[in-house]
Amino acid sequence: MTMNNPSRIGLLCLLALSAAPAATWAQQKAAAPAAKSGQQVYEGVCQACHGNGVAGAPKFGDKEAWAPRIATGMDALLASATNGKNAMPPKGTCMDCSEQDLAAAIEYMVSHSQ
Ligand code: HEC
Repeated sequence: MTMNNPSRIGLLCLLALSAAPAATWAQQKAAAPAAKSGQQVYEGVCQACHGNGVAGAPKFGDKEAWAPRIATGMDALLASATNGKNAMPPKGTCMDCSEQDLAAAIEYMVSHSQ
């Protein structure tokens, strides 16, 4: 029992040491494709309408305008943003935006409007 402990600890240390760089690398790799931040997408594309409430767009920072939309849930908002809704064009005209980019832009607007 007591004889086993030092070697077990040694093995755990080895595992922890070898796992650490791999995890860091994996995290960096996962973060890399998210080239556009929500703020970048918003400022580059969505702000054109959402900055001033053009054509009835819920305005950035307008809690009352966003509240009922936020209540429908992120999936519904992402679906509207992807497919378009009334005067809201599909993907908000950002044709090279991935679903992740759109979601990030929505999160950026939502987090500043509640
Ligand atoms: C050409 C103007 C325009 C642009 C550009 C635009 N939007 Fe919109 N957006 C609208 C309008 C108008 C509405 C309101 C639609 C409605 O509910 O009738 C809207 C609504 C939305 C909603 C709420 C949808 C819902 O279900 O209530 C989301 C989310 C949204 N836009 C995200 C985005 C994102 C993200 C971008 C940038 C990638 C963007 N919009 C760019 C005009 C625009």
